[in-house]
Amino acid sequence: MGKGFYISKPVGIVSIILCAGALATIIALSVVYSEEKAKNNNQVSPTDGGTTSKPPVTTLAPSNEPWDKYRLPKNLVPDHYNLTLWPRLTPDLTTGLYIFTGKSTVEFETTEETDLILIHSSKLNYTILENGHLARLTSVNSGVRVPLIKVSWLQSVTQYLVLQLDGKLMTGHRYHLYTKFTGELADDLGGFYRSEYMEDGVKKVVATTQMQPTDARKAFPCFDEPAMKAIFYITLIHDRGTVALSNGEEKGSMVSDNPNPNPIRIFARKPAIAAGQGEYALNKTGPILKFFEKYYNSSYPLPKSDQIALPDFNAGAMENWGLITYRETALLYDKEFSSNSNKQRIATIIAHELAHMWFGNLVTLRWWNDLWLNEGFASYVEYLGAHEAEPDWNVKDLIVLGDVHRVFAVDALASSHPLSSKEEDIQKPAQISELFDAISYSKGASVLRMLSDFLTEEVFTMGLRTYLSEFAFGNAVYTDLWKHLQMAVDANGTELPDTVHNIMNTWVLQMGFPVVTIDTKTGVVSQKHFLLDPDSEVTAPSPFNYEWIVPIKWMKTGAVQSPYWLRGKSATNDAMKALGTEWVLANLNVVGYYRVNYDEENWGGITGLLILFFKLIPVINRAQLVDDAFNLARAKIISTVLALNTTKYLDKEREYMPWESALNNLDFFYLMFDRSEVYGPMQDYLRKQVTPLFNYYKTLTENWSKVPDGHMDQYNQVNAISLACRTGLEECQNLAKTWFKQWMDTNNNQIHPNLRSTVYCNAIAASGANEWEFAWSQFKNATIATEADKLRSALACTKQPWLLNRYLEYTLDPKMIRKQDATSTIVYIANNVIGQSLAWDFVRARWSYIFTQYGGGSFSFSNLINGVTKRFSTEFELQQLKQFKEDNAEVGFGSGTLAVDQSIERTTANIKWIAENKQNVLNWFRDETKPVF
Ligand code: BES
Ligand code: ZN
Repeated sequence: MGKGFYISKPVGIVSIILCAGALATIIALSVVYSEEKAKNNNQVSPTDGGTTSKPPVTTLAPSNEPWDKYRLPKNLVPDHYNLTLWPRLTPDLTTGLYIFTGKSTVEFETTEETDLILIHSSKLNYTILENGHLARLTSVNSGVRVPLIKVSWLQSVTQYLVLQLDGKLMTGHRYHLYTKFTGELADDLGGFYRSEYMEDGVKKVVATTQMQPTDARKAFPCFDEPAMKAIFYITLIHDRGTVALSNGEEKGSMVSDNPNPNPIRIFARKPAIAAGQGEYALNKTGPILKFFEKYYNSSYPLPKSDQIALPDFNAGAMENWGLITYRETALLYDKEFSSNSNKQRIATIIAHELAHMWFGNLVTLRWWNDLWLNEGFASYVEYLGAHEAEPDWNVKDLIVLGDVHRVFAVDALASSHPLSSKEEDIQKPAQISELFDAISYSKGASVLRMLSDFLTEEVFTMGLRTYLSEFAFGNAVYTDLWKHLQMAVDANGTELPDTVHNIMNTWVLQMGFPVVTIDTKTGVVSQKHFLLDPDSEVTAPSPFNYEWIVPIKWMKTGAVQSPYWLRGKSATNDAMKALGTEWVLANLNVVGYYRVNYDEENWGGITGLLILFFKLIPVINRAQLVDDAFNLARAKIISTVLALNTTKYLDKEREYMPWESALNNLDFFYLMFDRSEVYGPMQDYLRKQVTPLFNYYKTLTENWSKVPDGHMDQYNQVNAISLACRTGLEECQNLAKTWFKQWMDTNNNQIHPNLRSTVYCNAIAASGANEWEFAWSQFKNATIATEADKLRSALACTKQPWLLNRYLEYTLDPKMIRKQDATSTIVYIANNVIGQSLAWDFVRARWSYIFTQYGGGSFSFSNLINGVTKRFSTEFELQQLKQFKEDNAEVGFGSGTLAVDQSIERTTANIKWIAENKQNVLNWFRDETKPVF
C-alpha cells in the first residue's frame, strides 16, 4: 500500500460529492443526465420524525409562469449551503426501499426584489414544517421583516420547489432557506444513488453521487445551474466503520502543518485495494497534477485530491472537485489482468478529469451551451497529461484515430450540428444531456489541437493561463478564451490571417468540416463542405456559407514547406504545383480538422509511393491517406478502387496507426458485405494482407511467448491476431481455441491480458454452450472489472442464436448485467452478424422499458441506437427504422434523439453506396486474390 493510500472500510462507503470549504464550488457542474424515471417517490415514508408530504403536483398545461421556465430567474444568488445528508445503507423496513434524508440551509442574496422563490428539486419529498409549508425562510440581516410563505409546491416538469411569498424579498438582503427532505437512494446511477457489490459473500452498499448535468437537485434542493456557484459546508451522517468522503477536506483531519500539502488518495473496494489495483492510478496522479500545474501556471486549487472507483457508475468518470469518481475499469489496474489499452484508458481518463479541476471547475463555463469547450478541452489535454505519465507511448498521436477520425464520421452527416449552441436553445435536462456527444468531445478536442498548433503551444498556454487567472472561481463564455488567446497572439507578435475569434468561429459556429482539394497541376487550392452522402440535403444555414479559414501544413516530395492559409472557396498557391516526380502531401500529422483530396496524378504519385517507399510518408499521414481515401470514395469524390488501392501496401506495413485506420474503414466493408457474396473474396484478400503481419509478430514474440516492447506494437499485435482470426487464418483460430481450452482444462489463464479480448471472442465464436457457460461463470467471478468487461464483450461473439437471445434477456436483469453495462452489451451483440437482427428486434420490442429504465445515460443511449443500426443498408431496414421512429414518437428517444436521425441518414447513404459499389468492390477483391501464374 502506498503512502497516503487509504482503503475502504468493510461496510460501505458514503461519498458525497459537493464542495466544502472556503471555496467557490461547482455544484451544477458535478453531475449525469436526468430523465423522468418510472418510479414514484411519494412512497418514501417519513423516517426522522417529521411528516413527509405528498405535495400537490400541478399538471396544468404550460403557461408562462416563472416556474414553467427551465432557467432560474437571476434575482436570487446563493452564497453558501449548510447541508446534512444521511443515507441509509439498509432498506427501510416498511417500504423495502433504500432512502436518504437530509436538511439544508441555503443563504442567498436578493439582487432584485421578488415575492417568489424558485429552487431546483427533483424526486425529493419534503417534511411539512411548523409553518405548514415545505420550507422555512428567515432573514440574515436583523431588523428586516421576512415575508411569509403563502403557498409552496413542487413543480415536477421544470423540477422546482416553488415558494410564493406574501411580500417582497429586499434587494441586497440575505435570507436563509431551510428544508428537510427525503429521497430514494435508488440504483439509478443519478443524483444521490446506491451502488452494490459482494465481498466474501456479503452484500456491500455504497451511497454515492452523480450530479452532472442536472441531478444535484435530486440529492437536495439547490440552485442547480453552473453559474450559481456557492460554498458548501457538508455534514454526512454515517455508521461507525464506514468511510465518508466529500470534496473538501475533513474538518480537523488535516492540520495546517501537514507535511503533504495536497494528499492524493485512491479509494475502491477493499479487495481491489488490497490487490494493489489502485497503485497505478496513485503513482500517475502526482506527475499528472504537476504537469497541469505547470501547463496552467496555477497550483492545484484544493487541499486534497481523492479518486474513487465505484462498482456502478454510468459514465467513465466524473470530475467532482477534489473527489473524482470513476467506473472501476477506468481507475483500477492490475498487470495480471489489464491490457495496455486498459492502462492507456486509465492514464488518459485520469488526465482528463484532473484537467477539469482547473478547466471546468476553477473556471466554469456559464451555461451548458458551451459544454463543448469544457469537454473538448479536457479531451485534448488528456493526451498531454497521459504523455507526461507515459512518455514512451507516443500517445499524443492517437488523438488522430481516437478523436479526429472518429468524429469525422458523424460530422460529415447533414444531420450534424455546430460545436456551439445558442444559450436559449439549451433549456431542458434532455437537451443538456444531448450535448455530451462526439461533437462536443472529439470535434472540440480536434479544433483545440489545431488551434494550439497554429498558435504554437507557447502562445496557446500563455492565453490559457491569463484566462484561468482572470476567471478563477468564476464563470466564462467561450469567447473569453479567444480574447485571452488574442492577447497572447498580440503580445507575441504571432502572424495570423485573421483574429483568433474570426478564425475559430468558422470551426465553432458551423457544423461539418471541409475537404480541401489541391490541384498540383495548377496550384489551385479549394474547399467544400464534406458530406458523406453528397445527395443529402443540408438545411441548416451557416453564417459562413460552409467556408472555413483553413491552416494547411504540408510537404512537397518529403520536404516540409511553410504553412499555407486557405480563405474563401478557392485560391492559388504556386508553391503547391508539382512537376515530374514531385508530390504534395497536406495536413501533416492531421493537425487540421479537414480531409484532403488531390488531382488524379498526385493521388497516383502517393499511392505509388505507398507501394514502393511508404516510409517517406509520416506514419500518421499513412493512416490519414487510408481514412481520407475511403471516405472521399464514400462521398463519391474519388473512386472506391482508388481507396482500396491504398490498402495494397499493407502487407509491408508494420505500424499500428495505418493498420488501425485501415481496419476501421474495412469495418464498414464488413458491415455492408458480411451478409453478401462480396464476403468471401474480401476475406481472401484481407487474409493475404494480414498474414505477413501475423508472421512478423509470431517471430517478434518468439511464437507468442513474449510481449512486444512498444505500446503501439502491442496494439498492432492485437490487430494482427484479430484480423488473422477474423479472416479465417487457421493457425490463428487454432491458437485461440487451444489457449482458451487450456484455460478451461487447467483453470489457469495463461493468455496475455493484451490478447484476451480477441482470443476469448474467437474461441467463443468457434464453440458452443460449454465454452459460453465457462466464460459466463468467469465473468461473474472476476475479481477485476477489466477482466469482466473482456468476457462480457466476448460472450456476444457466439454464433448460437439461442445463446445470444438469452444473453439479450440478461442485459435487462441488473442481477446478471449491471445497469451501467446494459446498453453496451446490447451493442456488442449487434456487432455480431448473427446477433444484429436479434438485437434490433429486442430493442424494438422493449423500447419503452429500456427508455424508462436505462434512458438517462448520456453517452450510452446514442451509442445504443447507432450501434444496433449501423449495419443497416437495405430499403427494408430503412423502413423499419422510420417505423421505429414513428412508433415511439411519444415515448421519445431522449439523449438518443439525434442518433435516430443520424441512423436514418446513414442507412440511406449505405443503400446507395452498396448499389453503386458492390460490383466494383467484388471485382476488385477477386482480381487481387486471383492466383498469379
Ligand atoms: N464530465 C464528464 C462525465 C459526464 C459525462 C457527466 C456525461 C455527465 C454526462 C467527464 O469529464 C468525462 O468526460 N468523462 C468521460 C471520460 C473522458 C476520458 C472522455 C467519460 O465518462 O467517458
Ligand atoms: Zn470531461
